[in-house]
Amino acid sequence: MELSEPLVKVKKSRPVNLDLQTIRFPITAIASIMHRVSGVITFVSIGILLWLLNLSLSSPIGFAQAADHIDGFFVTFIMWGILTVLAYHIVVGIRHLMMDMGYFEELESGTHSAKVAFAITAVLSLLAGVLVW
Ligand code: HEM
Repeated sequence: MELSEPLVKVKKSRPVNLDLQTIRFPITAIASIMHRVSGVITFVSIGILLWLLNLSLSSPIGFAQAADHIDGFFVTFIMWGILTVLAYHIVVGIRHLMMDMGYFEELESGTHSAKVAFAITAVLSLLAGVLVW
């Protein structure tokens, strides 16, 4: 072997897949990633809700201000979003705890339970909408 030759020869015909458009996550992976994201959003939401609670308890004027904030469409929408994300985190969290106990561990049952969790969250989200509007 000559010294100028590369030590490792890379096969030109090896499979390469960097086209992200062709990569699809399974629904179980999507449920899992979104669960972590929903946990972080829930954590941030605590700050917003505590701020609102603090304002409403500070004085009668503060209470009126807090009520005024909640009346606006934008804040109502945020409240609906917070409740929906919390519902998702709890529903998928319970699914996760059940998996820790040995349920839904197979691909098929895991896929099914993820779909059921999405459906339950959708119903709870609708109910949250009815609650805040
Ligand atoms: C204030 C309320 C909550 C906050 C801020 C919160 C936040 C979080 C965060 C940030 C994670 C991600 C941790 C990680 O992936 O490293 C997490 C995971 C988890 N949460 Fe919550 N959570 C809350 C309430 C709940 C509730 C009520 C449940 C009940 C079902 C729950 C069940 C879980 C479970 C099972 C995990 C682990 C998921 C995993 O291992 O992938 N959480 N939570």
